[in-house]
Amino acid sequence: MLSKNIEQLLQDQVKKEASSSQTYLAMACWADTKGFEGAADFLYAHSDEEREHMLKLIKFLNERGSQATVAALDAPKKDFNSLMEVFKSILEHEIVVTESINNIITNCLAGNDHLTNNFMQWYMNEQMEEEQLARSIIDKLEMIGSDTGSLYLFDKELAGLASAEH
Ligand code: FEO
Repeated sequence: MLSKNIEQLLQDQVKKEASSSQTYLAMACWADTKGFEGAADFLYAHSDEEREHMLKLIKFLNERGSQATVAALDAPKKDFNSLMEVFKSILEHEIVVTESINNIITNCLAGNDHLTNNFMQWYMNEQMEEEQLARSIIDKLEMIGSDTGSLYLFDKELAGLASAEH
């Protein structure tokens, strides 16, 4: 059985992953209608990945004697000024998610919940990859600056990154 504390933290994390999925879906819609088809592919794929993260947590909760809650979500931001703004918000968002996962692990260790700690390590690795990817995309967008030709090519490259994700 999960402790009440860990159960609540995991339930909150379910909501955060669901909200991440919706956030990326809204970003994908923005990109799709602004001519950034590659970025849209990347963001649709990322939205699916976040849903997978949510499902994995839901199944863990259900298998450990709890019942996962599917919570109501606030509507995500839908308008952006640039691809740079989109990826900067992704990085900020993922940093907050990493802190949240780190906090769950801290609580697992304090409560001697090694099983949940072990389960959450997968999320920690995933976060490291996601933050690193967002940073490298921001670096490239910085290099591109206002060069629309390069931005066009980079958008195509982003579609490739979507299929390289798992
Ligand atoms: Fe599943 Fe990107 O947090």
